[in-house]
Amino acid sequence: MGILNFGSRGATAAAALLLSCAWPTLAAPTKRADYKHLQTTQYGDVTFGLGNLTYLANIQHPKAVLGGDCAAAATQQGSLVPFTVIFAEDEVVTGDYLKGAIASYLEGDDVFSEDFLEGLYIVHNGTSSKATLDASALGYISGLAPKHLFLDTTYDGQYSTDILITYVAAPSGSNITAGPYAASISETSVSFGAVYRLYRDSYRDFLYGTYESNDGSGSFTPVEVFNSRFWDPMIPVPSRIYSWSDSRPFAGYRVAIKDLYDMKGLITSGGSQAWAQIVEVANETAPSVQRIVDLGGVLVGKYKLAQFASGANPWEWQDEHYPFNPRGDGWLTCSASSSGGGCSIAAYDWLDFAIGSDTGSSMRRPAAVSGTYGNRPSQGLMTLNRVMPLGAATDTAGVFSRNVHSWVHFAKNWYVPEMTQDPSITGLSALLAPDTYGFPKRILYTEYLPLQNPAAEVVLQAFIRNLTAVFGMTVETFNMTATVANTSADIPKYKDLNNATSILNTMTQWQEVAQPLIETWAELYDGRFPPIDPARRSGWTAYNHTYYTQELYTEALETKRSGVDWFESEILYATPESCSESIMLWDIGTGGLPSYREQTMNNNPNDTSFLAVTPAGAGISGASLCPIYGCVDMTIPIGQVPYKSNVTLVEEMVPVTVSVIAKRGCDFMLWNMWEKLADEGVLKTIKTGRTAF
Ligand SMILES: *[C@@H]1O[C@H](CO)[C@@H](O)[C@H](O)[C@H]1NC(C)=O
Ligand SMILES: *[C@@H]1O[C@H](CO)[C@@H](O)[C@H](O)[C@H]1NC(C)=O
Ligand SMILES: *[C@@H]1O[C@H](CO)[C@@H](O)[C@H](O)[C@H]1NC(C)=O
Ligand SMILES: *[C@@H]1O[C@H](CO)[C@@H](O)[C@H](O)[C@H]1NC(C)=O
Ligand SMILES: *[C@@H]1O[C@H](CO)[C@@H](O)[C@H](O)[C@H]1NC(C)=O
Ligand SMILES: *[C@@H]1O[C@H](CO)[C@@H](O)[C@H](O)[C@H]1NC(C)=O
Ligand SMILES: *[C@@H]1O[C@H](CO)[C@@H](O)[C@H](O)[C@H]1NC(C)=O
Ligand SMILES: *[C@@H]1O[C@H](CO)[C@@H](O)[C@H](O)[C@H]1NC(C)=O
Ligand SMILES: *[C@@H]1O[C@H](CO)[C@@H](O)[C@H](O)[C@H]1NC(C)=O
Ligand SMILES: *[C@@H]1O[C@H](CO)[C@@H](O)[C@H](O)[C@H]1NC(C)=O
Ligand SMILES: *[C@@H]1O[C@H](CO)[C@@H](O)[C@H](O)[C@H]1NC(C)=O
Repeated sequence: MGILNFGSRGATAAAALLLSCAWPTLAAPTKRADYKHLQTTQYGDVTFGLGNLTYLANIQHPKAVLGGDCAAAATQQGSLVPFTVIFAEDEVVTGDYLKGAIASYLEGDDVFSEDFLEGLYIVHNGTSSKATLDASALGYISGLAPKHLFLDTTYDGQYSTDILITYVAAPSGSNITAGPYAASISETSVSFGAVYRLYRDSYRDFLYGTYESNDGSGSFTPVEVFNSRFWDPMIPVPSRIYSWSDSRPFAGYRVAIKDLYDMKGLITSGGSQAWAQIVEVANETAPSVQRIVDLGGVLVGKYKLAQFASGANPWEWQDEHYPFNPRGDGWLTCSASSSGGGCSIAAYDWLDFAIGSDTGSSMRRPAAVSGTYGNRPSQGLMTLNRVMPLGAATDTAGVFSRNVHSWVHFAKNWYVPEMTQDPSITGLSALLAPDTYGFPKRILYTEYLPLQNPAAEVVLQAFIRNLTAVFGMTVETFNMTATVANTSADIPKYKDLNNATSILNTMTQWQEVAQPLIETWAELYDGRFPPIDPARRSGWTAYNHTYYTQELYTEALETKRSGVDWFESEILYATPESCSESIMLWDIGTGGLPSYREQTMNNNPNDTSFLAVTPAGAGISGASLCPIYGCVDMTIPIGQVPYKSNVTLVEEMVPVTVSVIAKRGCDFMLWNMWEKLADEGVLKTIKTGRTAF
């Protein structure tokens, strides 16, 4: 039997049915899948299936509980009804309006499906105190054949329909928004639990998914749901519709967080099970992350990182299984340490941003190998309170994105003056970060170029021509190594700056992480040293307490400071016209060659590359330039080149990126340049999956 059409029924019969509490025997539309309870989590929330999709519902702390006489509609305790909430401003709701609303839900949201039309709640949010549904609206609803029709009390009236109507007021401030819900109906109220679609993390880039507990404390709940067939964590994303009328700048942005940042209610592991064992659940969220939440962002999960933010190669990961990169043959490195961040942004359309950190390369290199936008901001631009440290004076917080305009929008709202670090942490001169269009005049083409793969260098040269055309810049070759070596005796050289950076990083991590872990572990396990990945084992076992003193740390900060002062007066400096008179181009990636997650596959020098290769004649890894000079360095995807994969045995594409350095504090100058280049069609929105373009 087909769907009953309101128009084909007599008004008298419908009016009679209106009084009946029993549900008339309507056949549900065949396209609506049945609600299938899957599990109740240990947190009291529920996962359920609708057709082939799985969802999570926060029923423990529903988004809204609305009181009313629901006796006739009440469901068995504990059972849930997929529900759709629609707001209507007009005094008269028509069938076309409802149809349009549902069409916009289907079009604009990946969580909503018609399966949520098992229940329908229409809320009047216009100014009139009385509103109605016209015959076309009733006809349309009848065609949908929801099991439950709830109307806001503003619609109170006599409707000629055979559908049981329940009236429930939606007082302003009730937190109910449009979108899909899992509802439970008692005799006196209806609870609307927010629903999240559970996506498979098929590239295994996450440790686990997370969602807002909604208990009023600002804490998060982990998703302990796992796809046993493919061994994937399941990541919850809330309906985008919830945020359609939220005017906050990050409303509905889905953001992944490196498991180095505290999220209240969760363990911050730093990628170490030993660490996870000895620490307490975070009782506050890191301020940098809290700002994202305050601006309307949703934190969908904690992603994988190289343990304790090291730069470990894929084959050196022991505690965590190394994440996968969707690009090319699917067997390429994600680099480190924000590995899961770059790779998840390259992998999933359902994810908008990932937050990472960069001490030595950890945003920029993962962005390079995943072909995404990623930044190491100026030293000091973002507070790192409640972020597990590597080097307090060298750590920075960055964000991965696929789209230039979204990236810049995020950055301009996230990196605001009140979020900057206390200058005593960096030891540097005051940080000024103007949102400026004072663009640079010169491009310094450094000794870290050309890109190793000649085909990739062609892509870079085209990009440089575009840069010069759009901004009227000139290009000069520039040898930073020679320049530093040639400075007067009082200017610190690379060996001094490397030494200082190493002291700053070693001491912070020792004090904040290594020492507490080693001591606690020894107490728990009869003097044993904790099981950790090789990247940190030798440094931590050989730590010299006599050598690493507070005086040494202070001296190292001073060395760094004098290097930065020199750099900002002689190399990348401000002029009245430019925030940074020039920018430096270099390559933090693989020069347009594939770098595999298997060590031995990288042993073909002209066809493959290891990471962190310093070209002959360069005095320092290019990745270290900004960690020592405090500057801003961004990775920009500019194209792709083919390679013959030894994994899939066919031709695949690998992303080509370029790294761009400007003076400390000129982050917004660069972002304004990227926006201009995006407007000119030079920079593109990056695709997810096998190819970035
Ligand atoms: C899931 O179900 C939808 C609707 O029935 C269908 O279009 C889609 O192909 C299915 N997907 C998978 C992976 O089975
Ligand atoms: C009513 O809700 C709709 C859809 O959620 C929204 O677009 C509209 O702005 C709201 N109107 C008012 C007055 O809040
Ligand atoms: C709205 O939700 C917040 C928690 O997110 C809660 O504290 C508040 O009580 C809710 N308001 C109502 C009226 O339920
Ligand atoms: C979190 O825990 C720390 C250490 O136990 C404590 O000092 C701090 O006051 C707590 N913060 C909150 C918000 O409870
Ligand atoms: C960028 O370069 C490409 C070819 O190299 C050219 O077709 C395009 O017009 C350039 N765009 C701008 C804005 O200069
Ligand atoms: C080295 O410094 C001298 C004197 O300051 C200068 O004349 C020369 O050009 C510099 N050479 C390089 C390679 O920077
Ligand atoms: C530790 O540092 C002190 C002071 O610099 C030095 O004398 C000592 O030899 C170092 N110990 C080791 C084992 O390197
Ligand atoms: C490293 O820097 C510290 C502090 O400035 C200094 O005492 C030490 O001699 C330096 N070591 C080397 C090998 O340059
Ligand atoms: C593939 O393997 C062959 C044989 O070992 C080697 O010569 C070639 O460089 C490899 N190419 C890539 C892209 O890995
Ligand atoms: C790599 O390329 C260089 C320059 O073309 C060539 O001299 C060298 O022999 C090549 N090495 C290998 C291992 O093919
Ligand atoms: C840069 O300068 C260093 C030191 O003088 C030199 O060894 C190297 O060859 C130069 N590199 C380039 C690309 O000129």
